[in-house]
Amino acid sequence: MSAASQPVSAEIMRLNAICPYFTMFPLEFPLGILQKHARAGARVLDPFCGRGTTNFAARLLALRTVGIDASPVAIAATRAKLVAPTPGEIIDEVKKILQQRHNSIEIPEGEFWKLAYHIDVLRDICLIRDALLNGLVSSRVAAALRGIMLGALHGPMGRTKHSYFSNQCPRTYGPKPAYAVKFWTKRGLLPPRVDVLAVIAERARRYYGNTSPEIVGAAIEGDSRQRSTLEEAREVIGKFDWIITSPPYYGLRTYLPDQWIRNWFLGGPASVDYSSRGQISHSGRDRFVDELRKVWANAGAHCKPGATLVIRFGSIGDRLVEDPAQLVSDSLEGTAWVRSDVRDAANAARGKRQADTFHRRRSAPLDEVDVWAKWQP
Ligand SMILES: C[S@@+](CC[C@H](N)C(=O)[O-])C[C@H]1O[C@@H](n2cnc3c(N)ncnc32)[C@H](O)[C@@H]1O
Repeated sequence: MSAASQPVSAEIMRLNAICPYFTMFPLEFPLGILQKHARAGARVLDPFCGRGTTNFAARLLALRTVGIDASPVAIAATRAKLVAPTPGEIIDEVKKILQQRHNSIEIPEGEFWKLAYHIDVLRDICLIRDALLNGLVSSRVAAALRGIMLGALHGPMGRTKHSYFSNQCPRTYGPKPAYAVKFWTKRGLLPPRVDVLAVIAERARRYYGNTSPEIVGAAIEGDSRQRSTLEEAREVIGKFDWIITSPPYYGLRTYLPDQWIRNWFLGGPASVDYSSRGQISHSGRDRFVDELRKVWANAGAHCKPGATLVIRFGSIGDRLVEDPAQLVSDSLEGTAWVRSDVRDAANAARGKRQADTFHRRRSAPLDEVDVWAKWQP
């Protein structure tokens, strides 16, 4: 029986949009592959899970799944897609947190924070952050609430109704403080006094009002170049049948700094984190290829013979990869992965990429390819 026998309604798919992420691939990509080819009971891994698109596709089809990512923001977004609390449970917990109104919480200071959030909004955000960091939210609700908060932290201001907590901001990445302050000051933009509970309640209903059942799955914060990380993933669901993934696009090194506000919410510093902790190196093509090879080999070691690997890969404007398919093929060499197909991804992600509300120029992705391989040890 193929996994396609599972019906998937548009309403159930909404949860995939809980938190945007740069270079995310569309849900139809992993979902289409698994529906068409995966058998019921298959186990699905994504060693570069980002916002957990592959893991969510697996959940929709009742397949076991694990996601791995070096970014805490990616892991929080993925975990939010593996749980199923009711909207009522989420809203009740938030009401309780906001009623506490104690003064001992840490509130970040400075020009950026003053202009990014209305002071009452920032206090509410900090109360929720504090409750989550101190384990005061029930485990059923915590993963969902974290995802909702990350998705609502920054985005465009509505004219009549607010869906985000911030002053005018991009949705996908956190703007750099000096640039943002200049942007807001020049335009006289002040942060709106948003009803934090109302925004959370609306999002809780939208994303968790109709969810598919929970499956056996996990999101592991770690480095996929390390064997132990893949071992941990195997322990959760058993040997993998499918890997559908998209490694960092060559030249895009800003996964952590771009997510600095969300990273702060998860317990990080209240300033831009310029580190590249745990991230694949972009210092040169050979090193990049070697590091990818390590990941494919580590993952293969926990795959069933005949397992399928699908890699979507592209590069970012200023660091051209002449031939993305060749780069991926080179990274498979020396492993037991045998390339079976290369398909043009037709820039599937391009049409989905959000308009940049912040007028900042971002490098556009170039060609994207899908490389398919079989594990033949
Ligand atoms: C192209 S994104 C994945 C996007 C994902 N397909 C989605 O739909 O959201 C690549 C991800 O690889 C992660 N990453 C980079 N180096 C890593 C490593 N060594 N181990 C695990 N994750 C890593 C980045 O943090 C980033 O989230």
